[in-house]
Amino acid sequence: MSADDIERIIHSRISAMTIDRDKPVAHDIIERLLLAAQAAPNHRKTRPLRVAVLQDDARPRFGEAVADAMQTQGDDQIKVDKTRTKYGRAPVVLVVASAVGASELETEENRYAVAAGIQNMLLLIDALGMTALWSTPAKGTHSTMTQFCQFDDTDHVVGIVYLGWGTREAVTKDRPAPVVHWLT
Ligand SMILES: Cc1cc2nc3c(=O)[nH]c(=O)nc-3n(C[C@H](O)[C@H](O)[C@H](O)COP(=O)(O)O)c2cc1C
Repeated sequence: MSADDIERIIHSRISAMTIDRDKPVAHDIIERLLLAAQAAPNHRKTRPLRVAVLQDDARPRFGEAVADAMQTQGDDQIKVDKTRTKYGRAPVVLVVASAVGASELETEENRYAVAAGIQNMLLLIDALGMTALWSTPAKGTHSTMTQFCQFDDTDHVVGIVYLGWGTREAVTKDRPAPVVHWLT
């Protein structure tokens, strides 16, 4: 693979929820994605990546658990109801968490490492012709998620990645140039 190929994947990758919820994702593809995530840099070999792979009934059960937690804390009823079924929108839902570090700085660095791991996954997902979207866990549902996913309670959920086969042709996106200060 050339540098041009890698660049093409980086720039053509887009997030989408237009995923075929009924088309299964082979187990070996998920394994490849997890290895790609684990290949991201991490400081002091902390290996902070934690992942729960939700498939089949685990998705609605996860949705029910998260929705119940939201209901208990008085969240908007429309959001609560939506949460009960929303994880069924993709055949695979990856709950991605980061382990706590030995210091505040290490905990912070661990999260960066896991975020880099998610991006590795997103690039490989694109290269495989698949579709994904990285979403944020609902506020106040952290303990529910960590318990459901059998993580340690000190693990921090960095993202929830919906994964599957796209139902639409990918479109290209124009992204603004980064803010850069060139110093000499
Ligand atoms: C940490 C993080 C959390 C995000 N949470 C959400 C989310 O909860 N819902 C959502 O629709 N998009 C969320 N996004 C944004 C999308 O995943 C996506 O990256 C964004 O829409 C930009 O689109 P692009 O990836 O096609 O450039 C999040 C992105 C990041 C990096």
